[in-house]
Amino acid sequence: MGYRDIYSTWQADPEAFWMDAAKGIDWISEPKTALTDKGDGLYEWFADAKVNTCWNAVDRHVEAGRGEQTAIIYDSPITHTKREISYVELRNRVATLAGALRAKGVEKGDRVIIYMPMIPEALEAMLACARLGAVHSVVFGGFAANELAVRIDDATPKAIVAASCGMEPGRVVHYKPLLDKAIELADHKPDFCVIFQREQEVAQLIEGRDFNWHGFQYGVEPAECVPVAGNHPAYILYTSGTTGAPKGVIRHTAGQLVALNWSMKNIYNVEPGDVFWAASDVGWVVGHSYICYGPLIHGNTTIVFEGKPVGTPDAGTFWRVIEEHNVTSFFTAPTAFRAVKREDPTGACITNYDLSCLKQVYLAGERADPDTITWAQQHLDVPIVDHWWQTETGWAIAANPIGIEELPTKLGSPAVPMPGYQVEILDDAGHAVPAGTLGAIAIKLPLPPGTLPTLWNAEERFRKSYLTTFPGYYETGDAGMIDEDGYISIMARTDDVINVAGHRLSTGGMEEVLASHPDVAECAVIGVTDALKGQLPIGFLCLNADCQREHSDITKEVVKLVREKIGPVAAFKLAVVVDRLPKTRSGKILRGTMVNIADSAPFKMPATIDDPAILDEIKTALKTLGYAHS
Ligand code: COA
Ligand code: AMP
Repeated sequence: MGYRDIYSTWQADPEAFWMDAAKGIDWISEPKTALTDKGDGLYEWFADAKVNTCWNAVDRHVEAGRGEQTAIIYDSPITHTKREISYVELRNRVATLAGALRAKGVEKGDRVIIYMPMIPEALEAMLACARLGAVHSVVFGGFAANELAVRIDDATPKAIVAASCGMEPGRVVHYKPLLDKAIELADHKPDFCVIFQREQEVAQLIEGRDFNWHGFQYGVEPAECVPVAGNHPAYILYTSGTTGAPKGVIRHTAGQLVALNWSMKNIYNVEPGDVFWAASDVGWVVGHSYICYGPLIHGNTTIVFEGKPVGTPDAGTFWRVIEEHNVTSFFTAPTAFRAVKREDPTGACITNYDLSCLKQVYLAGERADPDTITWAQQHLDVPIVDHWWQTETGWAIAANPIGIEELPTKLGSPAVPMPGYQVEILDDAGHAVPAGTLGAIAIKLPLPPGTLPTLWNAEERFRKSYLTTFPGYYETGDAGMIDEDGYISIMARTDDVINVAGHRLSTGGMEEVLASHPDVAECAVIGVTDALKGQLPIGFLCLNADCQREHSDITKEVVKLVREKIGPVAAFKLAVVVDRLPKTRSGKILRGTMVNIADSAPFKMPATIDDPAILDEIKTALKTLGYAHS
């Protein structure tokens, strides 16, 4: 069957479609009901089943006789380390780690925060939680202590599993001091912490609270896989919204198992045993779905890559890893390819490697610009698949489903909706618009298995953020269009979220930090177009009338403040002082117009603008930062 037939099969009977996909999972008790409508726009998949994620991702492959197959390849050009872990080794390591966590009191439903860099132990910690039915929440290493503290208070974990340090080019990330600071800042205190000591930096442990990863596992009883209900939360992953308070996206156990397992063949075109590599980070949704769970559930070999596309040691790293580990499908962010292309525009490094193993490449996390896709197509000579999804959905909303059928590529479009997603473009009043017309992208409810059922401890926020604007639909927060052939294009966010180097950030969150500076009376943060990172944040500051200080001191201070409060990942390096901000007569800051000025893009003078002369002042300020040239 081709894509259209499969999509129609899903449309004709969505529940039967997913019940059929559910056959790929080992159930302790099979689901009798596919979908439960809980009313008011809330749905759950396979709620009445009993299942365990770790069993499906690890043990079942050992039981099926594939224990000697490599489950995880750790390749770390940054520490010059390589290691392989077979499925049987992974099973034993995860069972012991889970046993040790249980011996310290972690049980089904308890939360565990995982704060670790790209090392196999991060996946082992996730799987150990899954084995016990504990709910993990992985926090990305590029966030500051304050962001970690916010997540500790929201998730109220019984335990935190962390590493002593992370490695960024040219600097060690001191995870343990960041963790200590976060626990100090948070109101909630975990019962205990487990620290994986890396040889690059051994951390000091706090007696009675912190336990050494190896020591605390000594002599414990390995844990078996604990059955959980299909609608048991597998994890919480925090993501940026309009305000500084992150949203705790929940993933339910059974839906994730079914959807990710389905996606590995149909979207990523891999068979069990093939090597699949997503060069992302466990702190992001891509890391959850396609470094850890998806490939392991499907019996693939996954790669944990601790390095960068360039500089570790050069722009040939990706190709070296693909050749050396025989990668079939490779997934990365467009920004990573832009970084490689900038250093190796002619693709000379690529010719040093035999990439005949590579069958297809996937891009997501931000808009894939046609130049980058064309460059990759030319030099890699395999299908380059742009696909669109979000932390909330956990897997692709739109893609070119190569495992079903390779559809023609249209540059600038992540192709067509996957089964499970009825994507529509709506105008402000919620009416569908004709093909080729820009509007808000919405998905008809219910969302498919594997997507978010709600937000952690925040059902009202869930409804307000996603369900109320367009009744009966999930609001994606993206704007775009669908053409006559059903191809979707993603043009922009409709909220204050920006995308910097494939990382989703909240300008509202940055504004909250700038506003906390004692000299700042008012501020705005916008995302301007950047050739490498897609977008970059710029802050505009209006100072208190009595402030006599040097502007350059204040801008330096706010840059430091954002790094301290949000973290280096915000990549906030540009700020400028202005007298006034452009606003509508009702007082709304015209951020979109400011972005157009910065990008030198044409724009219509907003009819409601209070004082058009302010735009000239903004343009002058932007010029001092190297923007708004024409
Ligand atoms: N832990 C701690 N700090 C981190 C970090 C981590 N895991 N990841 C990034 N940072 C830091 C970086 O060191 C940098 O710090 P600096 O200001 O001291 O230089 C800062 O956060 C900004 O990082 P980034 O925006 O990633 O820029 P970069 O210049 O370090 O690297 C790229 C640029 C393009 C090479 C890099 O962004 C990249 O590989 N992007 C791919 C992103 C990706 O895979 N996203 C996943 C979504 S699918
Ligand atoms: P995240 O939740 O971090 O995965 O970010 C999700 C957001 O990234 C989406 O809502 C889009 O704005 C953007 N995004 C992800 N993939 C794509 C893509 N293929 N094309 C355009 N934008 C994308």
